[in-house]
Amino acid sequence: MFTNGKPWLDTDGNPIHAHGGHMLRHGGYWYWYGEDRRENYYVSCYRSRDLSSWESRGIVLSTDSETAPIRVRTDLSLKNETPFEFPKDRPIPEFLKKAKNKVNLERPKVLYNEKTGKFVMWIHYENGRDYHCAAAAIATSDTPDGKFTYHGSFNPFGYMSRDCTLFKDADGTAYFLSASRDNADMHVYRLTEDYLNVDALVHKLWQGEYREAPAVMRREDGKYFVFSSYCTGWAPNQGKYAVSDGMESRFSMLSDFGDETTYRSQPAFILPLDTETGKQYIYVGDRWGGRDYMSSSYIFLRIRFDDRGMPFIEWNENFELDDKKGLREI
Ligand code: DGJ
Repeated sequence: MFTNGKPWLDTDGNPIHAHGGHMLRHGGYWYWYGEDRRENYYVSCYRSRDLSSWESRGIVLSTDSETAPIRVRTDLSLKNETPFEFPKDRPIPEFLKKAKNKVNLERPKVLYNEKTGKFVMWIHYENGRDYHCAAAAIATSDTPDGKFTYHGSFNPFGYMSRDCTLFKDADGTAYFLSASRDNADMHVYRLTEDYLNVDALVHKLWQGEYREAPAVMRREDGKYFVFSSYCTGWAPNQGKYAVSDGMESRFSMLSDFGDETTYRSQPAFILPLDTETGKQYIYVGDRWGGRDYMSSSYIFLRIRFDDRGMPFIEWNENFELDDKKGLREI
């Protein structure tokens, strides 16, 4: 049994650090990637056969990862060596002191590319000091839980790019969504066939609405939903969604999703499941610990649809989860 907002433990009994994360199914396993800000780590990976018991596969991206440029001109730095003094007038959390030379890599998402056989990760990159780089970064691996090679960060078509997600459509076309223009607009980019570059900017959504934490799902009837939060730092706020008939079709305006704090969470990703009793879509949110980032936890809630076919979630505390029976509220 799991309790929303309480720590999840891996099979070694350690808390799962996979914040701002994403799940991928490949070769009989589920892989859960996310932020791990301990030590010199950036991205963690866990795997599970059933979505219930999670084995740590270690850190797939760290300050020591191999780097290699790709054809896009990128900044390959995984550390910020510029001398930096923390402000003396306020307490600095321990984990930030340890992170002194780290850059900031947030919201890692991974897709498998059928054509190249590569696992491709897109991440939000900052220099570790502030949020002014507003860049996207890429890493790849030949295996889902191998060491990823870092290919550097860049600004897609020169645009700012902060909170982000990846989405693979039914035909294999992939999209990268990221908050641009200081978070005012949400951009949707179609990716190149190898998923290593942006091919076209297909939308500038909800200009001036300051949406972040995007998460996408495609319902089996072909409706697409993008969930997102407003921008309030680590504090939760009212979630919203928009609907469309395709990633490159017109999106609706924003409608409320969850309560005024999205049950104290911010979208991480949507988990689609083929269960014994049909399709389920699960909203996975981060419940951030704020200043105590390391205590951040997760929220898993069933997405249901009203009589107009629009999605909603309701609070539920305890649940069981496996990939055959799906999420069962207790
Ligand atoms: C909210 C974002 O969604 C997080 O990923 C992170 O960037 C925090 N803001 C930082 O304040």
